[in-house]
Amino acid sequence: MRIAVIGSINTDLSIQVPHFPQRNETVVGHGDYVISQGGKGANQAAAAAAAGAAVYMIGCIGRDDFGGRAIEDLQSMGVDCGAVRRDPDHATGLAAIYIDPAGDNCITVAPGANAALSPADVRAARDLIAACEIVMLQLEVPYETIDEAVRVASEVGTTVMLDPAPAPGRRLSCLAQVDVLTPNEVEAAEMTGISPDSPQACTAVAERLLAEGPRHVILTLGARGCFVASPGQQALVPARVVQAIDTTGAGDVFSGYLACALARSLEMTEAVSIAVAASALSVTRAGARASLPHWDEVLAFRSSEDGRRG
Ligand code: RIB
Repeated sequence: MRIAVIGSINTDLSIQVPHFPQRNETVVGHGDYVISQGGKGANQAAAAAAAGAAVYMIGCIGRDDFGGRAIEDLQSMGVDCGAVRRDPDHATGLAAIYIDPAGDNCITVAPGANAALSPADVRAARDLIAACEIVMLQLEVPYETIDEAVRVASEVGTTVMLDPAPAPGRRLSCLAQVDVLTPNEVEAAEMTGISPDSPQACTAVAERLLAEGPRHVILTLGARGCFVASPGQQALVPARVVQAIDTTGAGDVFSGYLACALARSLEMTEAVSIAVAASALSVTRAGARASLPHWDEVLAFRSSEDGRRG
Protein backbone atom coordinates (compact mmCIF):
# COMPACT_ATOMS: atom_id res chain seq x y z
CA MET A 1 0.00 0.00 0.00
CA ARG A 2 1.61 3.23 -1.14
CA ILE A 3 0.01 6.57 -0.35
CA ALA A 4 1.19 10.07 -1.32
CA VAL A 5 0.10 13.05 0.76
CA ILE A 6 0.30 16.54 -0.70
CA GLY A 7 -0.37 19.12 1.97
CA SER A 8 0.52 21.23 4.96
CA ILE A 9 3.11 20.71 7.64
CA ASN A 10 2.66 22.83 10.79
CA THR A 11 3.90 23.28 14.29
CA ASP A 12 0.90 23.32 16.65
CA LEU A 13 0.83 25.56 19.69
CA SER A 14 -2.09 24.51 21.90
CA ILE A 15 -3.72 26.12 24.93
CA GLN A 16 -6.49 24.62 27.09
CA VAL A 17 -9.16 27.29 27.60
CA PRO A 18 -12.33 27.45 29.73
CA HIS A 19 -14.20 28.76 26.66
CA PHE A 20 -13.32 30.07 23.20
CA PRO A 21 -12.58 33.84 23.06
CA GLN A 22 -15.19 36.29 21.76
CA ARG A 23 -14.24 39.34 19.69
CA ASN A 24 -11.88 41.59 21.71
CA GLU A 25 -11.88 39.17 24.63
CA THR A 26 -8.75 37.88 26.39
CA VAL A 27 -9.18 34.41 27.82
CA VAL A 28 -6.74 33.03 30.38
CA GLY A 29 -6.10 29.35 29.74
CA HIS A 30 -5.14 26.48 32.03
CA GLY A 31 -1.51 25.59 32.70
CA ASP A 32 1.29 25.52 30.14
CA TYR A 33 0.97 25.67 26.38
CA VAL A 34 1.97 22.57 24.42
CA ILE A 35 4.06 22.61 21.24
CA SER A 36 3.50 19.58 19.02
CA GLN A 37 3.62 18.50 15.40
CA GLY A 38 0.62 19.13 13.16
CA GLY A 39 -0.69 20.29 9.82
CA LYS A 40 -3.57 18.52 8.11
CA GLY A 41 -1.29 17.03 5.46
CA ALA A 42 1.37 15.84 7.89
CA ASN A 43 -1.25 14.50 10.32
CA GLN A 44 -2.90 12.50 7.55
CA ALA A 45 0.48 11.17 6.44
CA ALA A 46 1.31 10.09 10.00
CA ALA A 47 -2.09 8.43 10.42
CA ALA A 48 -1.78 6.49 7.16
CA ALA A 49 1.69 5.35 8.24
CA ALA A 50 0.35 4.26 11.65
CA ALA A 51 -2.30 2.30 9.76
CA GLY A 52 0.45 0.41 7.94
CA ALA A 53 0.88 2.17 4.58
CA ALA A 54 4.14 3.26 2.97
CA VAL A 55 3.62 7.03 2.93
CA TYR A 56 5.33 9.74 0.87
CA MET A 57 4.91 13.36 1.98
CA ILE A 58 5.03 16.21 -0.54
CA GLY A 59 5.12 19.56 1.23
CA CYS A 60 7.08 22.68 2.04
CA ILE A 61 8.68 23.87 5.29
CA GLY A 62 10.99 26.72 6.29
CA ARG A 63 14.68 26.44 7.09
CA ASP A 64 13.89 26.98 10.77
CA ASP A 65 14.07 24.65 13.77
CA PHE A 66 10.34 24.01 13.64
CA GLY A 67 10.73 22.65 10.10
CA GLY A 68 13.58 20.39 11.17
CA ARG A 69 11.53 19.00 14.05
CA ALA A 70 8.53 18.45 11.79
CA ILE A 71 10.61 16.34 9.40
CA GLU A 72 12.22 14.37 12.24
CA ASP A 73 8.82 13.58 13.67
CA LEU A 74 7.38 12.42 10.33
CA GLN A 75 10.45 10.32 9.63
CA SER A 76 10.22 8.74 13.08
CA MET A 77 6.74 7.57 12.07
CA GLY A 78 8.12 6.03 8.88
CA VAL A 79 6.93 8.76 6.48
CA ASP A 80 9.25 9.36 3.53
CA CYS A 81 10.05 13.11 3.38
CA GLY A 82 12.26 13.09 0.27
CA ALA A 83 9.73 15.33 -1.52
CA VAL A 84 9.44 17.91 1.28
CA ARG A 85 11.12 21.13 0.12
CA ARG A 86 12.80 23.59 2.50
CA ASP A 87 12.05 27.17 1.45
CA PRO A 88 14.54 29.84 2.59
CA ASP A 89 12.01 32.68 2.34
CA HIS A 90 9.30 31.45 4.72
CA ALA A 91 8.83 30.14 8.24
CA THR A 92 7.33 26.69 8.76
CA GLY A 93 3.54 26.83 9.10
CA LEU A 94 2.20 27.42 12.60
CA ALA A 95 -1.23 26.71 14.08
CA ALA A 96 -2.57 28.39 17.25
CA ILE A 97 -5.08 25.99 18.79
CA TYR A 98 -7.55 26.49 21.63
CA ILE A 99 -9.06 23.41 23.25
CA ASP A 100 -12.17 23.77 25.42
CA PRO A 101 -13.27 21.52 28.32
CA ALA A 102 -15.38 19.39 25.94
CA GLY A 103 -12.23 18.64 23.90
CA ASP A 104 -13.47 20.72 20.96
CA ASN A 105 -11.00 23.01 19.23
CA CYS A 106 -10.69 26.34 17.48
CA ILE A 107 -7.69 26.74 15.14
CA THR A 108 -5.98 29.61 13.32
CA VAL A 109 -3.08 28.92 10.94
CA ALA A 110 -0.17 31.07 9.73
CA PRO A 111 0.55 29.13 6.51
CA GLY A 112 4.17 30.28 6.05
CA ALA A 113 5.99 27.83 3.77
CA ASN A 114 2.80 25.86 3.09
CA ALA A 115 1.70 28.77 0.89
CA ALA A 116 4.84 28.26 -1.23
CA LEU A 117 3.99 24.64 -2.15
CA SER A 118 3.54 25.09 -5.89
CA PRO A 119 2.17 23.29 -8.94
CA ALA A 120 5.83 22.85 -9.99
CA ASP A 121 6.47 20.90 -6.75
CA VAL A 122 3.60 18.61 -7.72
CA ARG A 123 4.91 18.14 -11.26
CA ALA A 124 8.33 17.29 -9.84
CA ALA A 125 6.65 14.50 -7.83
CA ARG A 126 4.76 13.04 -10.81
CA ASP A 127 6.60 9.68 -10.76
CA LEU A 128 6.03 9.39 -7.01
CA ILE A 129 2.30 10.08 -7.43
CA ALA A 130 2.18 7.52 -10.26
CA ALA A 131 3.77 4.89 -8.01
CA CYS A 132 1.08 5.30 -5.32
CA GLU A 133 -2.40 3.79 -5.20
CA ILE A 134 -3.89 6.86 -3.51
CA VAL A 135 -3.02 10.54 -3.23
CA MET A 136 -4.48 12.45 -0.28
CA LEU A 137 -5.17 16.18 -0.52
CA GLN A 138 -6.51 18.91 1.79
CA LEU A 139 -6.87 22.69 1.39
CA GLU A 140 -4.15 24.16 3.63
CA VAL A 141 -1.89 24.71 0.61
CA PRO A 142 -2.68 26.88 -2.47
CA TYR A 143 -5.66 25.74 -4.52
CA GLU A 144 -3.65 25.86 -7.81
CA THR A 145 -1.36 23.23 -6.26
CA ILE A 146 -4.30 21.01 -5.33
CA ASP A 147 -5.79 21.47 -8.79
CA GLU A 148 -2.51 20.42 -10.39
CA ALA A 149 -2.26 17.42 -8.05
CA VAL A 150 -5.74 16.26 -9.08
CA ARG A 151 -4.83 16.70 -12.75
CA VAL A 152 -1.54 14.78 -12.44
CA ALA A 153 -3.16 11.99 -10.37
CA SER A 154 -5.92 11.58 -12.96
CA GLU A 155 -3.37 11.39 -15.77
CA VAL A 156 -1.35 8.68 -14.04
CA GLY A 157 -4.40 6.76 -12.72
CA THR A 158 -3.89 7.34 -8.97
CA THR A 159 -7.04 7.49 -6.81
CA VAL A 160 -7.70 10.99 -5.41
CA MET A 161 -9.02 11.59 -1.88
CA LEU A 162 -9.82 15.22 -1.08
CA ASP A 163 -10.53 16.47 2.44
CA PRO A 164 -11.92 19.97 1.72
CA ALA A 165 -10.54 21.42 4.95
CA PRO A 166 -10.37 24.24 5.85
CA ALA A 167 -13.72 25.08 4.23
CA PRO A 168 -12.77 26.27 0.73
CA GLY A 169 -14.74 29.54 0.46
CA ARG A 170 -14.88 29.03 -3.30
CA ARG A 171 -16.17 26.57 -5.88
CA LEU A 172 -13.78 23.64 -6.33
CA SER A 173 -13.31 23.12 -10.06
CA CYS A 174 -11.44 19.83 -9.53
CA LEU A 175 -14.35 17.85 -8.02
CA ALA A 176 -15.15 15.99 -11.25
CA GLN A 177 -11.78 14.21 -10.96
CA VAL A 178 -11.97 13.47 -7.23
CA ASP A 179 -12.70 9.87 -6.23
CA VAL A 180 -13.46 10.34 -2.53
CA LEU A 181 -14.56 13.66 -1.00
CA THR A 182 -14.72 13.86 2.82
CA PRO A 183 -16.21 17.16 4.08
CA ASN A 184 -17.19 17.67 7.70
CA GLU A 185 -20.45 19.41 8.65
CA VAL A 186 -19.03 22.94 8.38
CA GLU A 187 -17.35 22.30 5.04
CA ALA A 188 -20.38 20.50 3.59
CA ALA A 189 -22.67 23.36 4.62
CA GLU A 190 -20.33 25.93 3.13
CA MET A 191 -19.99 24.01 -0.15
CA THR A 192 -23.71 23.39 -0.66
CA GLY A 193 -25.59 26.02 1.36
CA ILE A 194 -27.37 23.19 3.22
CA SER A 195 -26.52 22.20 6.78
CA PRO A 196 -26.42 18.37 7.04
CA ASP A 197 -28.31 18.37 10.34
CA SER A 198 -30.95 15.71 9.55
CA PRO A 199 -31.01 12.50 7.49
CA GLN A 200 -32.95 14.29 4.74
CA ALA A 201 -30.48 17.17 4.74
CA CYS A 202 -27.56 14.71 4.53
CA THR A 203 -29.14 13.15 1.46
CA ALA A 204 -29.62 16.58 -0.13
CA VAL A 205 -26.04 17.65 0.66
CA ALA A 206 -24.56 14.40 -0.65
CA GLU A 207 -26.63 14.55 -3.85
CA ARG A 208 -25.59 18.11 -4.48
CA LEU A 209 -21.91 17.25 -4.02
CA LEU A 210 -22.13 14.05 -6.08
CA ALA A 211 -23.62 16.12 -8.90
CA GLU A 212 -20.28 17.97 -9.09
CA GLY A 213 -18.49 14.75 -9.99
CA PRO A 214 -16.82 12.91 -7.08
CA ARG A 215 -17.42 9.12 -7.11
CA HIS A 216 -18.00 8.94 -3.33
CA VAL A 217 -18.97 11.58 -0.78
CA ILE A 218 -18.45 10.87 2.91
CA LEU A 219 -19.93 13.43 5.30
CA THR A 220 -18.11 13.25 8.63
CA LEU A 221 -20.71 14.24 11.24
CA GLY A 222 -18.81 13.96 14.54
CA ALA A 223 -20.89 12.21 17.20
CA ARG A 224 -23.53 11.36 14.54
CA GLY A 225 -21.11 9.20 12.57
CA CYS A 226 -20.53 9.28 8.80
CA PHE A 227 -22.97 9.51 5.93
CA VAL A 228 -21.53 7.54 3.00
CA ALA A 229 -22.96 8.30 -0.45
CA SER A 230 -22.18 7.04 -3.94
CA PRO A 231 -24.50 7.34 -6.95
CA GLY A 232 -27.55 5.18 -6.09
CA GLN A 233 -26.25 4.14 -2.65
CA GLN A 234 -26.35 5.73 0.80
CA ALA A 235 -25.50 4.44 4.29
CA LEU A 236 -24.95 5.83 7.78
CA VAL A 237 -21.95 4.47 9.66
CA PRO A 238 -22.52 5.16 13.38
CA ALA A 239 -19.99 6.95 15.56
CA ARG A 240 -18.25 5.34 18.55
CA VAL A 241 -19.05 6.88 21.91
CA VAL A 242 -15.87 7.88 23.75
CA GLN A 243 -14.78 10.44 26.32
CA ALA A 244 -13.15 13.14 24.17
CA ILE A 245 -10.08 14.88 25.57
CA ASP A 246 -8.89 16.62 22.42
CA THR A 247 -10.56 16.44 18.99
CA THR A 248 -7.67 18.21 17.21
CA GLY A 249 -6.67 16.16 14.17
CA ALA A 250 -9.51 13.62 14.56
CA GLY A 251 -10.56 14.28 10.96
CA ASP A 252 -6.97 13.72 9.83
CA VAL A 253 -6.81 10.36 11.59
CA PHE A 254 -10.09 9.49 9.88
CA SER A 255 -8.67 10.41 6.45
CA GLY A 256 -5.36 8.59 6.96
CA TYR A 257 -7.12 5.42 8.07
CA LEU A 258 -9.72 5.63 5.33
CA ALA A 259 -6.99 5.91 2.68
CA CYS A 260 -5.12 2.96 4.12
CA ALA A 261 -8.27 0.84 4.39
CA LEU A 262 -9.17 1.62 0.76
CA ALA A 263 -5.60 0.87 -0.34
CA ARG A 264 -6.09 -2.52 1.37
CA SER A 265 -9.04 -2.96 -1.03
CA LEU A 266 -11.69 -2.93 1.71
CA GLU A 267 -15.23 -2.10 0.66
CA MET A 268 -16.23 1.55 1.31
CA THR A 269 -18.54 1.19 4.37
CA GLU A 270 -16.12 -1.26 6.00
CA ALA A 271 -13.25 1.18 5.35
CA VAL A 272 -15.29 4.06 6.81
CA SER A 273 -16.17 1.98 9.89
CA ILE A 274 -12.47 1.34 10.56
CA ALA A 275 -11.65 5.02 10.03
CA VAL A 276 -14.44 6.01 12.46
CA ALA A 277 -13.00 3.69 15.11
CA ALA A 278 -9.46 5.08 14.60
CA SER A 279 -10.70 8.64 14.86
CA ALA A 280 -12.70 7.84 18.04
CA LEU A 281 -9.64 6.30 19.68
CA SER A 282 -7.53 9.34 18.75
CA VAL A 283 -9.78 11.86 20.52
CA THR A 284 -9.26 10.05 23.83
CA ARG A 285 -5.63 11.25 23.67
CA ALA A 286 -4.16 14.78 23.64
CA GLY A 287 -2.54 16.33 20.54
CA ALA A 288 -3.16 16.12 16.81
CA ARG A 289 -1.05 13.04 16.42
CA ALA A 290 0.56 11.97 19.69
CA SER A 291 -0.06 8.26 20.33
CA LEU A 292 -1.67 7.55 16.97
CA PRO A 293 -3.44 4.19 17.17
CA HIS A 294 -2.03 1.34 15.10
CA TRP A 295 -4.09 -0.83 12.76
CA ASP A 296 -4.40 -3.88 15.06
CA GLU A 297 -5.30 -1.65 18.02
CA VAL A 298 -8.08 -0.03 15.96
CA LEU A 299 -9.50 -3.38 14.85
CA ALA A 300 -9.43 -4.65 18.46
CA PHE A 301 -11.17 -1.47 19.67
CA ARG A 302 -13.78 -1.74 16.92
CA SER A 303 -14.79 -5.23 18.01
CA SER A 304 -14.67 -4.43 21.76
CA GLU A 305 -17.73 -3.41 23.82
CA ASP A 306 -16.53 0.22 23.92
CA GLY A 307 -15.87 0.29 20.20
CA ARG A 308 -19.25 -1.27 19.33
CA ARG A 309 -21.38 1.20 21.28
CA GLY A 310 -22.67 3.72 18.77
O1 RIB B 1 -6.59 19.18 11.54
C1 RIB B 1 -5.81 19.59 12.63
C2 RIB B 1 -4.68 20.44 12.14
O2 RIB B 1 -5.19 21.63 11.59
C3 RIB B 1 -3.72 20.88 13.22
O3 RIB B 1 -2.67 19.97 13.42
C4 RIB B 1 -3.25 22.24 12.72
O4 RIB B 1 -1.91 22.27 12.36
C5 RIB B 1 -4.15 22.57 11.54
O5 RIB B 1 -3.52 22.36 10.35
